[in-house]
Amino acid sequence: MAKVIFMTQSNGAIAVEGNGGSLMELAVANGVSGIDGDCGGVCSCATCHVYVAPEDFEKVGAADEIESDMLELDDNVTEYSRLCCQIEVSDDIDGMTFVVAN
Ligand code: FES
Repeated sequence: MAKVIFMTQSNGAIAVEGNGGSLMELAVANGVSGIDGDCGGVCSCATCHVYVAPEDFEKVGAADEIESDMLELDDNVTEYSRLCCQIEVSDDIDGMTFVVAN
């Protein structure tokens, strides 16, 4: 079980909890604005872009090559960017906050 917070651009902080699946799926299921998941989680749309808190980044780790290639197409990418369809909901991310990218 993981409880996480999404900081959205339009409707503030949203606390959600889940047990498995991807972080994108959890966000979409809870109506987190700014996370659309248009490609269904196959890493080909970047509509699930989030920023990970720097102090927590090692818990999720860096994007792999395919994800990095996708992120490079996004103007708002930072060194703490991840596509949340590639992050598994597990105890490892419990308590983390993710900022939804513009
Ligand atoms: S849902 Fe499309 S890249 Fe994450």
